[in-house]
Parts: sequence; C-alpha cells; structure tokens
Amino acid sequence: MHLRIRIPALHERIVSAREAANWIQDGMTVGMSGFTRSGDAKMVPLALAERALGTSDTPAAPFQITLMTGASMGGDVDKLLTEAHVIARRMPFQSDPVLRAAINRGEVMFIDQHLSETVEHLRAGQIAPIDVAIIEAIAITETGAIIPSTSIGNSASFAILAEKIIVEINLSQPLSLEGMHDIFVPGKRPHRAPIPIMSADDRIGTTAIQIDPAKIVAIVITDKLDSASTVTPPDAETDAIAGHLIKFFEHEVAAGRLSNALLPLQAGIGSVANAVLAGFRAGPFRHLTMYSEVLQDSTFDLFDAGILDFASGSSITLSSKKHDEVFNHIERYKDKLVLRPQEVSNHPEVIRRLGIIGINTALEVDIYGNVNSTHIGGTHMMNGIGGSGDFARNAYLSIFTTKSIAKGGKISSIVPMVSHVDHTEHDVDIIVTEVGLADLRGLAPRERAPCIIQNCVAEPYRSMLQTYVKEAQVRGGQTPHLLEKAFAWHTRYRETGSMLE
Ligand code: COA
Repeated sequence: MHLRIRIPALHERIVSAREAANWIQDGMTVGMSGFTRSGDAKMVPLALAERALGTSDTPAAPFQITLMTGASMGGDVDKLLTEAHVIARRMPFQSDPVLRAAINRGEVMFIDQHLSETVEHLRAGQIAPIDVAIIEAIAITETGAIIPSTSIGNSASFAILAEKIIVEINLSQPLSLEGMHDIFVPGKRPHRAPIPIMSADDRIGTTAIQIDPAKIVAIVITDKLDSASTVTPPDAETDAIAGHLIKFFEHEVAAGRLSNALLPLQAGIGSVANAVLAGFRAGPFRHLTMYSEVLQDSTFDLFDAGILDFASGSSITLSSKKHDEVFNHIERYKDKLVLRPQEVSNHPEVIRRLGIIGINTALEVDIYGNVNSTHIGGTHMMNGIGGSGDFARNAYLSIFTTKSIAKGGKISSIVPMVSHVDHTEHDVDIIVTEVGLADLRGLAPRERAPCIIQNCVAEPYRSMLQTYVKEAQVRGGQTPHLLEKAFAWHTRYRETGSMLE
C-alpha cells in the first residue's frame, strides 16, 4: 500500500465506499472519472445508489445530484444511479440503455456537450462548480499528485476545481501505467498560450494530477476491473466500408496529397469505427499515428501488426480478451502511447494544427451531407455527440461512416433531410457506406446530392431519393427541398414500421 499511497498520513483517510459516499449530499455537483467505460469511479457511485434505495438495515434516503464525467461509465454505474433516481442532471456523454430511457422520458436532464468543452465551462464559472470529485487512480504520489488509471477524461480539471476529492485506488490497475499520462491544463483566456503539441507523440505536461492533498477527504480501495468494451466484431458491411476508405486513402497518396503514413488518425466510438480501423491492417500504409480519444482493440492490433507507430488518446477501452493481452504486456506498448485530458486530446487548436483525419459514425446522413449522430427519429437520444464535433469541425479530412440501412432495411441511413443535425454540411468532407464513398470536397449542395445518392445508397432507396431531388430542384434554391415531404420517410417509419413506400 505504501507504493499506492505514498504520503503516510493519507493512509488514515482510507474508508469504506459507504463512508466516502457520505461526503455527497442532495443537490451537489459531482465530477467522476470515467471515459468510455474505462478508468471510471467504481465503488462510491454504487454506494450512492445503495444509500438512495436503502438496504435491509438502512432506510431509503432519496437524493439527487448533477453528475459530470469524462464520457460513458462502465460497470452499470449510470444504470444503477438512474434506477436509484440519484441523477437529476447528467453531462457530457452517456451510452447506457437505462439512463438513455430515463433521458428520453424527460426524467433526467442530459446536457449533450462537445467533450472538449465541459471543463472550459467549469473553469469559467459558466456552469455550477464541482463540489466533490471522485477519481480512480493507480496511486497518490509523495507530493499528493493523483496518478489516474486507464483514462484521464476530465479527471484533472475535476480534481483541480473540486472543493473535495475522493480517490478510488484500484489495485487491479497495474502500477506500470505510471508514466503513460500527460497532464496539461490550458491557461486562462483571453491570454492563453498555445498548446505546444506539434506532433501526436509530444509530451507537454506532468505524469500525475497535482492537487493539494488536503482536499482528499476519503480514499477507497478497490480491485474491480474496468468494464469490457461492447463493440461487435467487423462484418461484411463494415469490411466494405473499410475497403472503400483504404482505396480512397491510396488515391490521396497517389495524388500526392498524403504520404504513406497518412496523417494522425482519429477514430470514433462504436462498432463501425473500430472495424474501419481494423481494416488498416490490410492496407499498404505504414508508420501510422493516432491522435484520438478512445484507444480500442484495433489500436493494439495495428501496433502488433507493426503498422502503427504511436497513439495519443484519453482512454484505453478494450474487450476482455484484448485487456489481458495488452495489460499483461503493457511494457511492450508503453513508449508508444500517451493518455491526455480530453480537452487536450480533443482540442480544436491541436486538431487543426496536426491535420487530423477524423473518422466518426453517423446514425443518418442527408443528401446534402448534414449528419445526425445522436437522435433516433429526430427526438430520442442515443449516446451524445461525444468528441465527433470537436474533430469533424477541425479535421484535415472529416469522414463519416454509416451502414446504408438499419433495422433490416426498414430504415435508410441516407434520408432527404436529417431529423437532427450534429454536424452540418460544412463540417463533412467524405461519407462512406458499404455501397461506396462520396467525396464531397469542393462540391455545392446541388452536386453533393447526386454524389451521395449514386455512391452511398442502394436500391430501392436510391430511386426514391433521386425522385425527391428531381421534384425539389423544380422549386429551386441553393439547397433544394420539399419541406412538406422532407420528413415523410421518418413519419412513415413511425406510422408503418418502414421508410419504404
Ligand atoms: N435510425 C434509427 N436507428 C438507427 C439508425 C437510424 N438511421 N442507424 C443505426 N441505428 C441503430 C442500429 O440499428 C443500432 O441499433 P441496435 O443497438 O438496436 O442494434 C444502433 O443504432 C447502433 O448502430 P450501429 O450500426 O451498431 O452503430 P455503432 O455501434 O457504430 O454506433 C453511433 C453508431 C452513431 C450510435 C455511435 O458511433 C455514436 O454514439 N456516435 C456519437 C459519438 C461519437 O461519434 N463519438 C466520436 C468520438 S469518440
């Protein structure tokens, strides 16, 4: 334990999760570590749910908090806190089906936010301050600095800005992670200095979060593992999407716009993004780098294949099989990885400077290239925008992938008008489905529509979209539409269970 808590006096603050949870009271704002199911607070959140619901020897004690995290939590944290009615407000991202349902019933207020922005708002006092931060760590150093575990997310700023800190020391997270983190917190505006990252592998900060150890009011010891990622393996469609992208990059190299090392890659969350990255194993590219958020199984597959030289992210989120392979040999990867706060991994300034190739996933795309990544049928939240907007707006190439159909063909992912816009046509360069790839660079809306319909849509939706565009063009406009019919496909799906006529 002296290696895990290196200030002897702090050993006195080791308490049970239930005791630690007592620091959190009704109405507080709590900032928890956790980014895409990794490095999340695991014990105190469960004790909070238990307190609200009561146990055989304690009565139910309902209370509500505002919960901020880096991104999604693992281990049913969001589910259990939702079921215990503890979450009044939640930001900036989630991906839990139970919480999602509560959000869509209007019971939890969800603030869906660009992942780089939350701590900017906190630091500027634009949103309620953090009362208590709960941070998973591998250790607390001799100076009281917190060494995070498998993610950083918003942990650094949460800990720095919070009034009180609870640390969960996770003994299942190897001490060998020490040194992998690069903690850098941008300065105050308007005279902030540039973030000095000139290359994906630059280190610009410290390896731990320096705070005043007097703020640590409780330490909880756990050995609970990170939750495994839930991505499904590649299938024929995702393989086809990856194939189209590889061909496109080969074309860019042949045209002299990219080298064989491409530019630093960002790959979003989800099965499609993971599969697309895995597809690079079959491509001719070498010495690739990543400047991304989540490092998934595919990142380590590319390291093992000798194709990827370096990966910068904010979290490592792996399947259980890959988890053991990676963490049993972490020394093999350590000098090829860096974990950063999410406001740095997703910072517009750095993304623009490095020329990132951003590959994110759409739920639906419209004929002009607007993208909906978050709202099913225009109203119901899926997960949130995550970092896709940070990257799409600022990338060298902003790519969106989606299967051309969903729900066995009853839904077309390419529609006349998206029912919610996360990424406007101005932030979208390339759209790829299993059918093909639409290169929208330099195209006006009237040119974009046939390019998307021809390259990305299969029959019968292709003909339906062609008819829509033809009719719309009779009315004219820079971006022709039939407003009374623009959402007819969504309406038909709601009424009949299919977008097909
Ligand atoms: N309308 C309704 N449902 C749709 C749909 C559409 N147009 N397109 C897909 N779906 C459904 C699928 O059928 C599937 O449903 P299921 O869970 O019931 O099987 C679900 O949406 C997920 O689709 P899938 O094809 O498996 O995609 P995915 O796992 O790759 O996730 C997103 C896609 C868009 C939900 C996911 O990438 C996301 O949340 N993105 C936003 C955040 C982000 O991009 N972050 C990037 C930086 S990390």
